[in-house]
Amino acid sequence: MSAALAAVILAAGQGTRMKSSLPKVLHPVAGKPMLAHVVATARAAGAAPVVAVVGHGADRVRAAFADTGVHFALQAEQLGTGHALRCAVPALAGFTGELLLLCGDVPLLRAETLAALLQHHRRQGAVVTVLTAEMDDPRGYGRIIRGGDGVERIVEEKDATAQERAVREINTGIYVFAAPRVFTLLAGLTNDNAQGEYYLTDVVAAARTAGERVAALAAACAEETMGINDRVQLAEAGKVMRGRINEGHLRNGVTLLDPLTAYIEPEVTIGADTTIHPGVHLRGRTVVGRDCELEPGVIITDCTLGDRVHVKAGSVLAGSTVGADTDIGPMAHLRPGTVLAGENKIGNFVETKKAAIGKGSKASHLTYLGDAEIGSGVNVGCGTITCNYDGVNKHVTIIEDDVFVGSDVQFVAPVRVGRGSLIGAGSTITKDVPADALAITRAEQKVIEGWVSRKRNKTAKGRPGPKE
Ligand code: UD1
Ligand code: CA
Repeated sequence: MSAALAAVILAAGQGTRMKSSLPKVLHPVAGKPMLAHVVATARAAGAAPVVAVVGHGADRVRAAFADTGVHFALQAEQLGTGHALRCAVPALAGFTGELLLLCGDVPLLRAETLAALLQHHRRQGAVVTVLTAEMDDPRGYGRIIRGGDGVERIVEEKDATAQERAVREINTGIYVFAAPRVFTLLAGLTNDNAQGEYYLTDVVAAARTAGERVAALAAACAEETMGINDRVQLAEAGKVMRGRINEGHLRNGVTLLDPLTAYIEPEVTIGADTTIHPGVHLRGRTVVGRDCELEPGVIITDCTLGDRVHVKAGSVLAGSTVGADTDIGPMAHLRPGTVLAGENKIGNFVETKKAAIGKGSKASHLTYLGDAEIGSGVNVGCGTITCNYDGVNKHVTIIEDDVFVGSDVQFVAPVRVGRGSLIGAGSTITKDVPADALAITRAEQKVIEGWVSRKRNKTAKGRPGPKE
């Protein structure tokens, strides 16, 4: 049986170099705040509870993670990484086990790497195990000073001698600690160093002085331990994260015509043999079926698409359910609450909102269907509008099965159209229509013979004609 595992995520720093009013750890990578990636990784490694130490922008960070089960500890003043972990100790009162220490601005770290770190920690019987990385250019990082068969100490760049600076194995800032032992070591830290901070790294030397074992594991992939300090690194991390997500889909049988321009958020699932064109964005908890085709510039947020759905260029879908064998777009807009039963056609410049549309029904052009319940086999003509809003309240339009709606019809809701009826083109329907009826409201056509030439002759009189 494995020991209890908790995680502390340091996230109190300001992130000055982001030049942002948004706290650094809330900047998104592949659509999710950096901190959310770190929380997900901690949980995937089996950590509970997860405690985030917040300071700068604490209220916004807390608000962004409300209802996620993440615990928070406040570090009101940023007195160093050691001080930050001290601030989390009350939240871990009574905790005995292994403590993962992660950074909120290191979003690329994978749970597999943490599993390897934990395994190394256990095998070495260490009190502290540090995740390290080999860097061609180690500038700015703490250096790992090895001795005997473990780590002797970590020295910060600003406190290092020239010889120590030459060391290329650096501290990634990620550790496993034995708790509660680490809490005792933390209590003894001082801020007697170049930056006047309480360094978490000094826990290493303290453990060694007490005769305890400190181990180190070099990360198999240094890229994972990249910290985000500015927007250049943020963009880089986004690219790496998208690359990982997209590789997963490619391996699952999804075709990405240009993986570099497929923006797919981590929780999206896609069925095999679906083809995704360039510039497609799939966001939130979107589910895409098999054999679908998503053309360029399609943006889908929190939708479920059945199999063989074809979404044509430039369509925007949110909060909608799309049944199998449906064609959408180009340039259609499905807004939240749209439910298409399947085998539908929603054509160009059609907008739907809170609209349940039955099997096989079509709205092929230039239409607004809002607050509508539409049966199966309905044909909605070009330019149809549900007038759902009276300026105060929204009202529902009900159109039963097999209704044929001519072009340019307005339904002034609330209104119900009975099964199999026919609505003449250009009608404004304000009253319920029974089944099997024809409803038509347009004025009868008048024809006045010769009107045009008579009118022209009149207006031409007394006016200079066009110059020849
Ligand atoms: C720290 C390490 C260094 C390591 C580097 C890896 C120390 C003393 N040094 O240095 O050995 O190579 O990380 O990136 O630990 N934070 C707080 N409260 C604080 C200070 C920091 O929450 O008072 C958070 C930051 O928001 C950040 C993390 O801790 O997420 C690291 O802080 P940072 O200031 O970047 O540490 P470095 O000086 O880079
Ligand atoms: Ca840093």
